[in-house]
Amino acid sequence: MKEIIKVKNLDVGYGDNVVLENLDFHIDRGEITVILGQSGCGKSTVLKSLIGLLPPFAGDIFFWGEKIDYFSEASLQALYKRIGVLYQNSALLNSLTLYENVALPIIMKHPDLPEEIEREMVYTRLSQVGLLENRDKFPAELSGGMRKRAALARAMVLDPDIIFCDEPSAGLDPITAAELDSLMLNLKELFDITFVVVTHELRSIEAIADKAIVLKDGVLYYFGPYRELFSLGDRYINEFFLKPRGAGSL
Ligand SMILES: Nc1ncnc2c1ncn2[C@@H]1O[C@H](COP(=O)(O)OP(=O)(O)O)[C@@H](O)[C@H]1O
Ligand SMILES: [Mg+2]
Repeated sequence: MKEIIKVKNLDVGYGDNVVLENLDFHIDRGEITVILGQSGCGKSTVLKSLIGLLPPFAGDIFFWGEKIDYFSEASLQALYKRIGVLYQNSALLNSLTLYENVALPIIMKHPDLPEEIEREMVYTRLSQVGLLENRDKFPAELSGGMRKRAALARAMVLDPDIIFCDEPSAGLDPITAAELDSLMLNLKELFDITFVVVTHELRSIEAIADKAIVLKDGVLYYFGPYRELFSLGDRYINEFFLKPRGAGSL
C-alpha cells in the first residue's frame, strides 16, 4: 500500500480554540513529507494529532487503511507498534548510557526479550546512526548532533514503518544539521522508512522533502510534491522561500 496515512477533514486544536480546520492530505510510503508554515501555525499540533497525543476535534485519520480511534487504548497501542517519534529536545534520559536509552522502548514493550536479542537490536540501530562506539557514553558526553542521532536510533529501535520528527535540526549547526538530513535520506533509501518532518530550516527542506504540507491561517495552504511548490507562482510561498536564512522562520 503506497498511501500509509490518510487524513480527512481533520480539525485540530486545544480546548475551544480550533488551530487548523478541514485538513486533507496523505502520506506515501518511503517518502519524506515535510510540514511547513510560520511559527505558531500549528505544525506541531498536526504532528501531535497524528501520533495520538492530541485527539482531533473532528475528521478521520487512517493508518494503513485502518481508522484510528484516538480514544481507544488498544487502537493507540497498535499504532505505537509501528511508528517512532523523534522529539524536539531529543528527550534522552541523562542518567542512562546511550545503549540504555536506545534499549528503553524494547524494555518497556518487550520486558521478557532475551538480552542477546535486545543487544542485537540496539547495536544494529546504533551502527546505523554511526554511534556504536559511543554506546557506553552518557548523553552529556555527546555533541548535539550525536544526541539527535541517538534519539533517532531510539525512535527506530522497534523497527517502525514511519518516523515522526518535530524540528529535528533545531539547535544544530548547519553542518551537523546537514549530516542529520543525509542520515534521514539514507534511512529512507536503505530501509524504506517513511518520515513526517516538521521543520522550518530551508536548507533541510530543500535536501529532504519529497512532499510538502504548507499550513497558513488555520488551513492547508498547499499539499503536494515539494518541487511543484515553485511552479505555482504563489507569492506567499515564493516570499518565504526567498527569505534569507536567519531572517525568521518559515
Ligand atoms: N498545549 C497547548 N495548549 C493550548 N494551545 C496551544 C498548545 N500548544 C500550542 N498551542 C497553540 O496552538 C497554535 C499552534 O501551535 P503549534 O502547533 O505549536 O505551532 P508550530 O509548531 O507551527 O509553531 C498556537 O497558537 C499555539 O499557541
Ligand atoms: Mg512546533
